[in-house]
Amino acid sequence: SEDEVVNITFIKKDGEKIKVRGKVGDNVLYLAHRYDIPMEGACEASLACTTCHVYVDNEHLDKLNPPEEKEDDLLDLAPFLKENSRLGCQIILTKDMEGLVLELPKATRNFYVDGHTPKPH
Ligand code: FES
Repeated sequence: SEDEVVNITFIKKDGEKIKVRGKVGDNVLYLAHRYDIPMEGACEASLACTTCHVYVDNEHLDKLNPPEEKEDDLLDLAPFLKENSRLGCQIILTKDMEGLVLELPKATRNFYVDGHTPKPH
């Protein structure tokens, strides 16, 4: 139903904006894939790669579920880290996220090799 719809805008590396209709409970990584947004997701949401790195607009940043320690640790490895960085595969849509804008960083790095991710130092 319409109550479940959460409108999201992705901003690609080249600045192109893509509006998508997600729904409550959607995982942002798989939502992006459904709309051909180039968010890689090399580890398939297992918190091991950082290729799903996104910047969250400031207006919505505190509406998101706070990152687990493991997400924070992993983000420390991500290139082009900012204050508003999150891992897309850890964002699950809620109604509060209506109007969310997610920007893709200019590059991501895949730390996930043979099922192993190095520890941040
Ligand atoms: Fe690998 Fe999100 S898909 S950390």
